[in-house]
Amino acid sequence: MEKIVSLCKRRGFIFQSSEIYGGINGFWDYGPLGAELKRNIKDLWWSDMIRQRDDVVGLEATIIMSPQIWKASGHVDTFADLMVECPVTNKRYRADQIEPQSGKVYSFTGAQWKTHHAPESWGPIGQPFSVLVRKGEHSEKAKKVAKEYYLRRFAAGVRYPDESLPPALAGVDLASGGGVPVWKPGDPPLEIELLGESISDVADSTLFSPDSGARLNKPRPFNLMFKTFIGASEPAEEAYLRPETAQAIFAQFKNVLETSRQKIPFGIAQVGKAFRNEVTPRNFTFRSREFEQMELEFFIKPDEVVEAICGKVASVAEAFGVPPSGGPEPAKAGTPNPQPSTLNPQPNWGWEAWHKYWVAERIAFYEGIGLPRTTLVEYWQKPEELAHYARATVDILYKFPFSKRDEKGELTGEELEGVAARGDFDLSQHERFSGKPMGVFDEELRAAWGKLDEAKKAGLSKRYHDARLKYLTKMGVEQAKAEKEAKEDADGLAKGQYIPHVIEPSAGVDRLILALICNAYSEVTETDDKGKTETRVMLKFHPRVAPIKVAVLPLLKNKPELVRKAQEVRDLLRPWMNVFYDDGGSIGRRYARQDEAGTPFCVTIDFDTLGEKPELKDTVTMRYRDDGKQERLAIGELLNWLLPNIR
Ligand code: GAP
Repeated sequence: MEKIVSLCKRRGFIFQSSEIYGGINGFWDYGPLGAELKRNIKDLWWSDMIRQRDDVVGLEATIIMSPQIWKASGHVDTFADLMVECPVTNKRYRADQIEPQSGKVYSFTGAQWKTHHAPESWGPIGQPFSVLVRKGEHSEKAKKVAKEYYLRRFAAGVRYPDESLPPALAGVDLASGGGVPVWKPGDPPLEIELLGESISDVADSTLFSPDSGARLNKPRPFNLMFKTFIGASEPAEEAYLRPETAQAIFAQFKNVLETSRQKIPFGIAQVGKAFRNEVTPRNFTFRSREFEQMELEFFIKPDEVVEAICGKVASVAEAFGVPPSGGPEPAKAGTPNPQPSTLNPQPNWGWEAWHKYWVAERIAFYEGIGLPRTTLVEYWQKPEELAHYARATVDILYKFPFSKRDEKGELTGEELEGVAARGDFDLSQHERFSGKPMGVFDEELRAAWGKLDEAKKAGLSKRYHDARLKYLTKMGVEQAKAEKEAKEDADGLAKGQYIPHVIEPSAGVDRLILALICNAYSEVTETDDKGKTETRVMLKFHPRVAPIKVAVLPLLKNKPELVRKAQEVRDLLRPWMNVFYDDGGSIGRRYARQDEAGTPFCVTIDFDTLGEKPELKDTVTMRYRDDGKQERLAIGELLNWLLPNIR
């Protein structure tokens, strides 16, 4: 990763934000090559998800929206990470990201101090504290860290935890410091004596600070949304920077439905900035505080509706042609995915088939832009990992160099994208909070319902009713009201009404960029004629994502005929792709510079182009990045040759 981070800076892919002011943690800027790479990725996603399909439309919503949206979505109340803090360094960590540590724990029951004001008076601090000393560390560390801790407690005027006052201090006026003058930073040092030392062994504990070894404070939730204020009035209206792009799609669902002539099933997609005040931004751009998402909300009919219309919901096996008997269980971890080329969405697909379809589509997208299947992992969240509203979630992981390794030493991968089956949770929440109906009317359902026998109607109504009731009671709606609403919802089926369910493939642009750079990074060692070896870096980007598609290089810059011809070639290609014109330095150095930028093709204009060998007039040398091979191509064919190779 160090090499990649340094290459990113050296070649202008990614810079630290505000670097001249010392940087700002969790924020990154994209330089000239990074900006092109990012644009390509977003364009490819947009094309794949929207332009190449009939059933998905786009949206571009604002970053700041009504705070009510974040109440309804649950972000205000629950979008929090459990955070722990080191009481010595004040560094904060995500509780789930503390690596297990082993070693000896030095525990103290408290400490006593001597102040410069009253050297003869020692006072106790009745606060137990412990420090982990890892293998290879000196035991003195424990005392140093513990003294620092008690000093801080004393300096902060917190001498006794309310709950654990030593009996000897009963009745002492603690508010005034128990008679001990308060030490302030800048005063002469305090003398601290540690009390009640004991030592024990600990294995795989996540209770201690990874840096100081101090026992961490109790975990507490930390909401990740950035707050801001709207308008000049006092008190100003509080709002949030959006922590995901998805909620705007739900909030605008009805407007899009009514204006786009789409019918369920269809999707709404959006690309844009999201902001999360991550407790511990880390791994370069992988976990940032400002990042971009590419999200699709694909709205589908609830299974009861599919069943009413089609008579039966296709099992995954039926939907994708996997033999039903002896085949793997549908929609479970490890089920082989259908190949996107064979996928042909059908009206009888229920949520399981749609979910699998989108997992397969998304993996195919990543493969199509150069991430080999072997670098990707399809991780099915376990039931205990699922969000309460999710029926199934597949995380698509990429094996980043910083990913953890399993017992066999294999990289386990980190999340690039989540594909979640979210039921009707989001639209239902916005319906309840906004008071605006989020359901749809489906003529096909209304017509089909009339033809069902009574038993079927009752069965489907009951299933729909029970699902709605479960949701409403889980969200705290009072029982009688929940019963009434669930009944109304179920009665709606007969009138062709329902709230759509949703499948959500949600990807991060920045993580994908990092994955593409990690995947493209390679080093080549070459020996020249004089036997000198040199190792240089090459970024083997797929031509579809490469920031520069083709470099146009006149052999010599001081030959006006060569320069003129090269500029003609550049201008011929420029309207169609990102072209880089370079006439500086030896041709070998120019090729090497392009290899490092990840440019797949270099076109050289030489004397043969000008007609030195008449049969080669108006041809150029096409040089391929990955194997360095070269061939002659006619300028007239260049565009037709390049276009299919970069798209
Ligand atoms: N609407 C669902 C949602 O936002 P998520 O798993 O929280 O789901 C989706 O985020 C994707 O956004 C992730 O898979 C990841 O690629 C990207 N992402 C999330 N937090 C990020 C962060 N702090 N930095 C960079 N990318 C992030």
